[in-house]
Amino acid sequence: MNRTANWEASCRMDSDELVRLHREHLWLHLTNHKSFEAQEPPIYVSGNGSMVKDIHGREYLDGLSGGVWCVNAGYGQKRIIDAIAEQLKQIPYYAGSVANPPYIRLAAKLAELLPELPKVYIANSGSEANEKAFKMSRQYFRLKYPGKDKYKIIYRHRDYHGSTLAVLAATGQFERKAGYGPLPEGFVEMPHALCYRCHFGKTYPSCNIDCAQALETIIQQEGPDNVAAVILEPITAGGGIIIPVDEYYPIIQEICRKYEVLIIMDEVVNGFGRTGKMFGSQHYSFDPDIMTMAKGLASSYMPISATVTKKYIFDQFLAEPTDTMGYFRDISTFGGCAAGCAAALANINIIEEQDLVANSAKMGEYLLDSLKDLEELPHVGQVRGKGLFLGIEMVEDKKTKAPLPEKYLAMMVADAKADGVIIGRMVRSVPGSNNVLTAAPPLIISKEETERLANTFRKVIEKLHKEIN
Ligand SMILES: Cc1ncc(COP(=O)(O)O)c(C=O)c1O
Repeated sequence: MNRTANWEASCRMDSDELVRLHREHLWLHLTNHKSFEAQEPPIYVSGNGSMVKDIHGREYLDGLSGGVWCVNAGYGQKRIIDAIAEQLKQIPYYAGSVANPPYIRLAAKLAELLPELPKVYIANSGSEANEKAFKMSRQYFRLKYPGKDKYKIIYRHRDYHGSTLAVLAATGQFERKAGYGPLPEGFVEMPHALCYRCHFGKTYPSCNIDCAQALETIIQQEGPDNVAAVILEPITAGGGIIIPVDEYYPIIQEICRKYEVLIIMDEVVNGFGRTGKMFGSQHYSFDPDIMTMAKGLASSYMPISATVTKKYIFDQFLAEPTDTMGYFRDISTFGGCAAGCAAALANINIIEEQDLVANSAKMGEYLLDSLKDLEELPHVGQVRGKGLFLGIEMVEDKKTKAPLPEKYLAMMVADAKADGVIIGRMVRSVPGSNNVLTAAPPLIISKEETERLANTFRKVIEKLHKEIN
């Protein structure tokens, strides 16, 4: 028996015990544990390609790349695993105030991918990467304009930027923030960019792209001297797979340049091929000042994130040696884990060599084309997507666009799982509007697997129609 089979066998032998210990001790992410009183909690033991296997040996096509859209290169990538093991043998760790070879090579690789953003700061989660971006923006302006207090951060309704308190304050998903206040002040919301539910009740293209123009009014209201940055997901993920129109980001950029406001692009989900480009921002013609990345950076084989910036931002922090306060006084212990950088480098090599960005674009288009006709059904409001990033907005009533209640989305996700396919849905995001089914499979997905994913979506959506009509 090989090592994987051995491992799986030992997990299977203990499955009752593992379930018992799970129920007794675990406190899982974003989970209401009451549900495990009536049903057994899932436990996954192995993965290969686009498939994962549970403790009972059942296999699933993972339409969510690890549940939260992050195992971009798929499971069992030997090169990433070997790179991690090799680096751990060389040196596992030294504080992030000292470099190691994989960190240097990763920074150079990211700078090659994003030549306008050549300075690379490493940490270990998407939340942290965004916190660093906020701290950099605030300190940048305090160093540049000592008399001013340019510190406010504008964020967008429906966008998500993480779970720690400052990024939660910058999160446009009320159900993620409710109950955790008081949150830090200085965060201001702007409207979302979802045409299907236009905040202004208008229709593209005669809308003047008011959702982007709104930024100017908000900056003026808050006072341009007080606003440091705007943070945006290029294509909104958990808020319902929202793809702004082409004109959107150039308008955001024009406004930001006018008032000297930094643009932070949160590429934590979009980055590394998810949307059919290496970075989601690259679908648009504009020039962000800071970018954050995490999940797909090392395909989540290791926890690693990066905050990358323009050189002029970095240069503002070049203090004289006698200046004890004028540099970036931030630290993140696990930002010094060298194997994360080694994993990220191997992962990016795989993405490039296997042209996974092109596969994401191709398979994504195929998935979208296969499902677009579902819009003819009474409870399918819109089928939208970019690359391997799909959202199906479900409605109760097509005319009013009233969202379909969550219980039906939960039912479809469960039906898909019973069919051997993991799909997703909006979870604890916009009150009353968690009504988008989602898919974001590994970028290595084959045509046959994409077909299977599409068939399952069709099956569960058609079944729902039979049951509720
Ligand atoms: C767009 C976006 N930004 C940031 C984060 C936070 O990343 P993490 O969970 O690694 O802190 C997430 C997590 O889902 C995300 O979707």
